[in-house]
Amino acid sequence: MGFDTLIVNGRVVTAADTYASDVAISNGKIEAVGKGLSRENAKKVIDANGKYVLPGGIDVHTHLDMPFGGTTSADDFETGTRAAAFGGTTTLIDFAIQYKGQTLRTAFDSWMQKASGKAVSDYAFHCIITDLGAAQLEEMNALVREGVTSFKLFMAYPGVFMLDDASIFKAFRATAKNGGLVCMHAENGSAIDVIVQQALAEGKKAPKYHALTRPTTAEAEACGRAIALAEMAGAPVYIVHMSCNDALEKVREARDRGLPVYAETCPQYLYLSLENMEAPGFEGAKYVFTPPLREKWHQEKLWNGLKQDHLQVVSTDHCPFCFKEQKELGKDDFTKIPNGGPGIEHRMSLIYSGGVAKGRFSVNRFVELVSTTPAKLFGLYPRKGTIAIGSDADLVIFDPDRKHTISAKTHHMRVDYSMFEGIEVTGMPDVVLSRGNVVVERDKFLGRAGAGEFIRRAGYTGR
Ligand code: URP
Ligand code: ZN
Ligand code: ZN
Repeated sequence: MGFDTLIVNGRVVTAADTYASDVAISNGKIEAVGKGLSRENAKKVIDANGKYVLPGGIDVHTHLDMPFGGTTSADDFETGTRAAAFGGTTTLIDFAIQYKGQTLRTAFDSWMQKASGKAVSDYAFHCIITDLGAAQLEEMNALVREGVTSFKLFMAYPGVFMLDDASIFKAFRATAKNGGLVCMHAENGSAIDVIVQQALAEGKKAPKYHALTRPTTAEAEACGRAIALAEMAGAPVYIVHMSCNDALEKVREARDRGLPVYAETCPQYLYLSLENMEAPGFEGAKYVFTPPLREKWHQEKLWNGLKQDHLQVVSTDHCPFCFKEQKELGKDDFTKIPNGGPGIEHRMSLIYSGGVAKGRFSVNRFVELVSTTPAKLFGLYPRKGTIAIGSDADLVIFDPDRKHTISAKTHHMRVDYSMFEGIEVTGMPDVVLSRGNVVVERDKFLGRAGAGEFIRRAGYTGR
C-alpha cells in the first residue's frame, strides 16, 4: 500500500527544528517523516523543492458571521475559512457569544449552526460570557468537558459585553478547577466611557477619536487587574489583542514572577499606527477596532516581545466590516462605527515577512507563534500545530522568497478594503493541505464548503 500523498524535497520546519525531509500522508494524517520515502504507489507527489513545509497556521481569534453594532461581520464561515486557507491558516478558533439572559449552550449551538456545512477547514470555539450567574458557572464545566475549553471575558464595552470584577473572579475560580482558560479583553471600559462621552460632548466625532479616547493606560490597568484576579484565583490567563508596550510590561512582569500569564498580539498592531487614523475624510474608519492603533514606537516593542517570548501568539482578531454601508454606519459619530478589521488571510505572510525575512526571529520561532503555541495553549496539540507522525496533515508548502503586494483587489476576504493595502510581503503559501486534502494551490481554491470539522479541544495544561 502506498501513501495518499507524498511531499518531497522540502525543508520541514517545526517550532524546534528545520531539516530536509519527505512527508507522507495517509487518511488525512501524517504517516511518515523521513528521507527517501518510497514514491512507489503514492497517489500524489508534491515537489516542495526550495520551499518550507510548515504545520498549518492556527488563528485563535476570529469573528466570523458575528453580529456587532447593528450589522454582522462580512465573512461567514465559508468565505472566512477559505480566505484563511489562502493565507496558510488551516484551523481557527472563533467566538460563540452568550447574550444576556442566555445559556452558554445557546451560544455554542448557535455558532455550531453558523459553521457546520460551511467551514472549509477545521474550527473550534471559545465562549464569550456576558452574563455569569450560578447556572452559567455550572455550564462552564459542561462546556469544558465538551471541548469548548476557553472563555472570553470583557473588561470593556459597559452595558454590552463587560463583566464586573466579581464575575471575572468567579470565572477564574471556575477555570482554576475545570481546566478552562480565560481569554481577556483588557481595557478599562468604565473609564473609557467617561472619556468617550466627553469627546462627543465636545463635538469630536471623527474616526480618529476612537483611538484618542482609549488610552494605553486603560489597557495596561485592565491587563494588570486581570492578572491580579487570575493570580488570586490560582488560574492561568491569556490576554487577547495586546496593542501597546504599557500592557506588555504587565505581562512581562507577571511572567518573570512565574505566573501562567500569556498574551497575543495581531498584525495590525505590528504594522499600523495612529497615523492611519489620520487618513483623509472618513478613511480612518477602516482602522476602528479595539484596542485601537497606537503611536508607532509601540510596534518595535511588540516585535521584541514576540522575539523574547513576552508575547506567545499572533492571532488576527479578524472581524471584517465593509467600508461602504457597514463602517459608514458611523459616518457622523465614531461610536457608531462597527469595531473590527479584516486580517485572516495575511497573518502568516505578514509575520514571516516582518519577523523572519527582516531578521527579527527564526523561522522556528515563527512556527511557534502562528501554530505550535496556539495549539498547545488551546488544547489542539499534538493533533494540530506540528509535523509529527499521527498529527493531522494540515500542512503549508511555503515559498520563503515569493513576494506579494497585499490588496483588496486580489484578496479573498469578503470585504471591500484591506488594512494592509500596498504592503509588500516576502514569503507566501504555495500549497495548503487540510487533513491531507489540497485546499489551495497558488491562486486556485480546491477545497469544499463543509469539509471543515468542529474540533473538541483538551483543557489547559500549560505549555
Ligand atoms: O474591535 C474589535 N476588536 N472587534 C472584535 C471584538 C473584540 O473585542 O475582539
Ligand atoms: Zn476583544
Ligand atoms: Zn476579537
